[in-house]
Amino acid sequence: MTILKFGVFGYPISHSLSPAMHTAAFSALGMTDAAYEAYAVLPEELKEKVLKAQADGFRGLNLTIPHKEKILEAGIIKPDAFAEKVGAVNTLLFNEGNIYGFNTDAAGALAALEQAGADTAGKKILIIGAGGAARSISFLFGERGNAVRIINRTAEKAKKLAAEIADKTGNRHVSGGGFSAGWDDLAQADIIIQTTELGMGKYEDVSFFDQLELPAGKTKDEMIQTHLKNKAVAFDIVYNPQETKFLKEAEKAGAKTLNGMMMLIYQGALAFEIWTGRKPDVDVMTKAVLNGLEKK
Ligand code: ATR
Repeated sequence: MTILKFGVFGYPISHSLSPAMHTAAFSALGMTDAAYEAYAVLPEELKEKVLKAQADGFRGLNLTIPHKEKILEAGIIKPDAFAEKVGAVNTLLFNEGNIYGFNTDAAGALAALEQAGADTAGKKILIIGAGGAARSISFLFGERGNAVRIINRTAEKAKKLAAEIADKTGNRHVSGGGFSAGWDDLAQADIIIQTTELGMGKYEDVSFFDQLELPAGKTKDEMIQTHLKNKAVAFDIVYNPQETKFLKEAEKAGAKTLNGMMMLIYQGALAFEIWTGRKPDVDVMTKAVLNGLEKK
C-alpha cells in the first residue's frame, strides 16, 4: 500500500529522470510504501494541483520548469531563507498543514563539485549564463563569499543579476557583464560553470568558447590553452549529452571537468533527505539515471 506519495510537477515532463532516480532510492532503502511519479502540470494549474496534492496526502514534490519561480507567486508555500532570496523553489515538503519550499539545485551543484574533488572555498567562480540555473548557483557562491563573475550573451541580464546578488548577500565581489572580455574572465577563474543551453539540442555543436572573439592570428585552442588556469575546473550543468563541446575543449586544455548529471542526482538526494530524513544511496540513484539516459 502506498502511503508516502511523492512526485515532480513540470511541463513538459515526460523526459524527467526523477521518477527512476527516486524510485530506485526508495527501493534501496526498503521503503516499499513510497511512490514517486511525474505529473504534467500547466502553469495555470500549479496552485490548484499543489493544493490537491496536499489534500491527497502527498509528502513531497519536486518542481521543475516552468514552476520554480511561479510557485512563490501562488502564496501558498513557506520558502526557506535561501529559496526566498533566490526566488526559486524546486522542492516542496508537506507537513502538518504547511507547505515548505526549498531550493536544492544550488546545493546539488556544490555537492557535485565537492564529490568531484573540487575545492570551492575562496575560489573565483565564473558563471556563464544568467537564466534560472545560473541564478541559484550564483546566489549560493555569492552567499558563501566567493568572488563571482557572471557573464551572459545579454550583458544587461548578467549585470542585473550580479547587482541583485551583491545587494542581497552583501558580497561586493559579485559582478556581471557580457562575453566581450570573456578570455580575460576565463584567465581569472578557478571554477567555470556553464549554465546555458549551448552544447545541447540545436546547439550541440556550439561551445561557450565559440562565442568569444579571437584576436588576429590566434586559434581558439591556443586561446583556451593560454587562458585557462592551471587546475581550473570546468563544470557544465548539461547532462545530455554527457560531454558537451565545452567540456571536451576544456578537458583538452587540461581542465578537470564534470557534467550536470551529479548535480541532478544531488539535488534529488537533498530533496529526498528533506522529505524522509534519510540519506539515499547516491550510487543507486546514479545507476538509475545512467540507465535512463541510455534509453534516450
Ligand atoms: P535556465 O533556466 O535553464 O537557466 P533560461 O532562464 O531560459 O534557462 O536561461 C537561458 C540562458 O542561456 C540565458 O543566459 C541565455 O542567454 P540570454 O540571456 O542572452 O538569452 C543563454 N543562452 C541561450 N541560448 C544561447 C546562445 N545561443 N548563446 C549564448 N547564450 C545563450
